[in-house]
Amino acid sequence: MFYFGADYYPEHWPEERWDEDARLMTQAGFNLVRLAEFAWSKMEPNDGEFEFDWLDRAISVLSSHGIQVILGTPTASPPPWLMAKQRDLFLVEQNGVRLTYGLRREYCPNNPLYYRHTEHIVTKMADHYKDNPAIIGWQIDNEFGDRCYCDICKTEFHKWLQMRYKTLDTLNEKWGTVFWSHIYTDWSQIPVPLSTIRSQNPGLGLDYRRFMSDTYRNYQKFQIDIIRHYCPDHLITHNLMGFSYNQLNYFDTTTDIDVVSWDNYPRTQWSMRSEVDPVKTALNADAMRGLKKKNFWVMEQQSGGGGWEYVAVPPKPGEIRLWTYQSIAHGADAVIYFRWRTSRVGTEQYWQGILEHHGIPGRRYEEVSHIGKELQRIGNKITGSQVKPRIAIMQSYDTRFAFQVQPNNPRFGYEKHIQDVYEGFYSNNIPVDIVSEKDPLSGYRVVIVPAMYILTEETASNLEKFAAEGGIVVFTPRTGVKDESNTVVNMKLPGLVARMAGIEIEEYISMPIDSDNHVRFGHPDLEDEFPTSIWADVIEPKEARVVAWHSQDFYAEKPAATINNFGNGKVIYLGIMGDKAYYNAIARWISGQARIKPLIELPQGVEASERWHGEKRLLFILNHHSTAKEITLNSSFIDLLSGKFLSGRISIGAFDVLILTDVEKPKT
Ligand code: GLA
Ligand code: ZN
Repeated sequence: MFYFGADYYPEHWPEERWDEDARLMTQAGFNLVRLAEFAWSKMEPNDGEFEFDWLDRAISVLSSHGIQVILGTPTASPPPWLMAKQRDLFLVEQNGVRLTYGLRREYCPNNPLYYRHTEHIVTKMADHYKDNPAIIGWQIDNEFGDRCYCDICKTEFHKWLQMRYKTLDTLNEKWGTVFWSHIYTDWSQIPVPLSTIRSQNPGLGLDYRRFMSDTYRNYQKFQIDIIRHYCPDHLITHNLMGFSYNQLNYFDTTTDIDVVSWDNYPRTQWSMRSEVDPVKTALNADAMRGLKKKNFWVMEQQSGGGGWEYVAVPPKPGEIRLWTYQSIAHGADAVIYFRWRTSRVGTEQYWQGILEHHGIPGRRYEEVSHIGKELQRIGNKITGSQVKPRIAIMQSYDTRFAFQVQPNNPRFGYEKHIQDVYEGFYSNNIPVDIVSEKDPLSGYRVVIVPAMYILTEETASNLEKFAAEGGIVVFTPRTGVKDESNTVVNMKLPGLVARMAGIEIEEYISMPIDSDNHVRFGHPDLEDEFPTSIWADVIEPKEARVVAWHSQDFYAEKPAATINNFGNGKVIYLGIMGDKAYYNAIARWISGQARIKPLIELPQGVEASERWHGEKRLLFILNHHSTAKEITLNSSFIDLLSGKFLSGRISIGAFDVLILTDVEKPKT
């Protein structure tokens, strides 16, 4: 079944309204709602006093209309009576300031009292709802992630360090504490990285980020264990924040949950732009699918303008539908809108739901109902089908954390660099997976490894094996610079992968912010010149062949990119960073080397993506333009949505979507 519904807050509305809400939801094709994830003070109005009657009644109204429920544990928004117990319950920010009550997510994730109260509420909820047939699963907390720097966290950090390093001597050596006289003689001396005048020891900075990521994983696991005990058959998820969120190692965060879900907001008050960048959403979705190599849920799909302090730009007619199908095209098996009805109260008064404040169905309700009707018809044909790219882009949270400590060049951003590489493939309609440095790589033809700054021996040998067995590996600047402790390697770059790349970096040049360079490619399949910026690696080829040269400056005519035969495969090293045209050309060139073709040639801004059910595929075509576009189909298809036979030159409407099935068997 394809799950379709909304995040619903019955506690915000009079009980007499609930039945009408459920009726309208059913009419819109809903079969699932998320409830209760911020309702702690309604469920436990005073310490130890639990009230589930209201929620029972809401659930029974919904289930009498055939709607199932996913319950949120309410720990992201603690009640005032709890937070009044101890000042220590509040999170301390990096500047040393302790938060105060009044928003949400203000708790310290290591506080023992917070754990105790979490245990109370989660146990009571799980026990109360374990046999309720309307409940299918749980969302733990809401959008984990803010780092705490309090004394409780400091003590826990010391324990974490002792587990990792066993002895202080090892820690001192790994962190290089000899520098500036930081040699610790007692664990208790080790600080948490509160603000200092400038950046801290790189080892400390990286380890604290790892520790905080583990902290949330442990806190989540604490809740999961309770729920699994009472409700072994229920599904458990957590709602994540997409690719761009960089405070947690999401590969670890999602290890203990059953299904990844995430919150998809293409346009909010933080952009206020007319245009939306569909690349970002596509990357978010692919990265979320990559966390467990499984289809995901969207737990909060945008259904109106997203604003807190500002009244944000609303989705244009057709955009809610387009964004919904974009999620589906990249692997969603459930789409839950945020939120059912715009709240009249609280911080999010201007975060529009499907219904407006007044609750009378309007344009957005009509659009969602339209999607609901479509999914009732075709949802079963989509659910469970797989996105199956042959190319993977490798991302590492250790590398992200290390770049947070030292960004290396003011114009460089690791996430942005991955997005640039991704966009090259996206613009050519060549699907990719986003994988971790620990994932098995067999099954792919190409693995791109952008700026793998923290490079471990395991990762290097994983990549060597992949290339030796016939794969193509692609590296970019700032690869192999550091070891696991955030210490610079005692080797010529690219360090542990120099041998497989068949090169050494003679000089790594951090480029000035006010001047660029050019690169000239001279490979039979890529003869072109592109502007470059940010990094210039001057390459000394060993076994590798040179395919590109820098154009200007003191390193003009020196090698800028190489290709090396390694075992049955190839290793490409790109010692430059470029513009859109560069990444676009590189994506085509690399895919060509691996004999991978674009799914279809389409105008810019019209996206294609595939899902497979065994031998049968669904080809999604999404027009992100507010005007119709002419496209040329490369085969004959039936459109699942309209039932029409389509081939040759056709027009796709503004923000419209096609879900094409092949008339003949496609070539894989
Ligand atoms: C996040 C949260 C929601 C809501 C929305 C809109 O995604 O999970 O509870 O606050 O943002 O701001
Ligand atoms: Zn803390």
